[in-house]
Amino acid sequence: MPKKMMLRRPRRNRVSASVRGMVQETHLEVSHLVLPLFLMDGENIRSEVPSLPGTFRLSLDHLLGEIASSLELGLSSFILFPAVPDTLKDKTGTYGYDPSNFYLKAATSIKQHFPECTLISDVALDPYSSDGHDGVVRGGKIVNDETLHILAKMAVAQAEAGFDILGPSDMMDGRVGAMRRALDEAGHTDTGIMSYTAKYASAFYGPFRDALDSAPKDSDDIPKDKKTYQMNPANKREALIEAELDTEEGADFLMVKPALNYLDIIHLLKTNSKLPIAAYHVSGECAMLLAASRNGWLDFDKAMPETLMAIRRAGADVILTYFAKVFAEMRKEGRV
Ligand code: PBG
Repeated sequence: MPKKMMLRRPRRNRVSASVRGMVQETHLEVSHLVLPLFLMDGENIRSEVPSLPGTFRLSLDHLLGEIASSLELGLSSFILFPAVPDTLKDKTGTYGYDPSNFYLKAATSIKQHFPECTLISDVALDPYSSDGHDGVVRGGKIVNDETLHILAKMAVAQAEAGFDILGPSDMMDGRVGAMRRALDEAGHTDTGIMSYTAKYASAFYGPFRDALDSAPKDSDDIPKDKKTYQMNPANKREALIEAELDTEEGADFLMVKPALNYLDIIHLLKTNSKLPIAAYHVSGECAMLLAASRNGWLDFDKAMPETLMAIRRAGADVILTYFAKVFAEMRKEGRV
């Protein structure tokens, strides 16, 4: 007998799978996940992103198949990004709202085939910009208010095409309000906005920029990075300013991006907002896990769900991750 009795033994609540299940605080379901998809114009294209193995740039025919098989696994939310050929890019991203835009046409087709899915868009200039920036570049600067008009046009075109929720990823000031007003004036009061509220100027977007060839172009009169609009990774309170503005301007979701290096920001917004919080587990974060797993240094099947659970535990209601479908498969097979 120990001299002093130990009254509290936290291990009692870890004694069996059943007890552990009873006291589990955070849950991760397929319904929380959003799968990013990269669209290319054309037919029968399935081109793997070299820096993100397992993720492909797909033409619409293959993309419809990918959505169908995801729906069978219970995964019903998708965010779509276009890989636009250079010939269609210009300084002001006019192709972004061109009625012949293959991205907009694809959205209409996807919603016709699968009305039950949730389709999220990307609102930003960079897929369409010959300068590789999210806003219009003039005199070596990214001009804010001129960009807003373009984003508003893109937003209305995307709502008309059938997107359910729009995802402004550009970090211009006032963009949520500009989009919301334009959408409402055009009668799209039911189209939601998932705002990239706290999007950091991060090194972890590399594979995504490879996939879309959307990195800032190398030229003397074009800023080489996105630091004048994306947030400084050193800042935390500033995320509260962005959250306050997006909320006032009518956002339906607040997003933090990236996720893993910014778990504190996810938690901060969760505790300071009543809106649902989304977290983008970005391409570079997924690539790190894949690289270590492929080297045999990490067990992917364990490390990946642990990572997603950590993002949920920090406070994310929704997680955008390239692993959404793999997780849904593992869940269906009862492996997680
Ligand atoms: C750009 C955009 C980026 C991502 C989503 N939208 C990259 C960037 O800001 O350069 C990154 C997503 C990822 O890395 O998975 N509008």
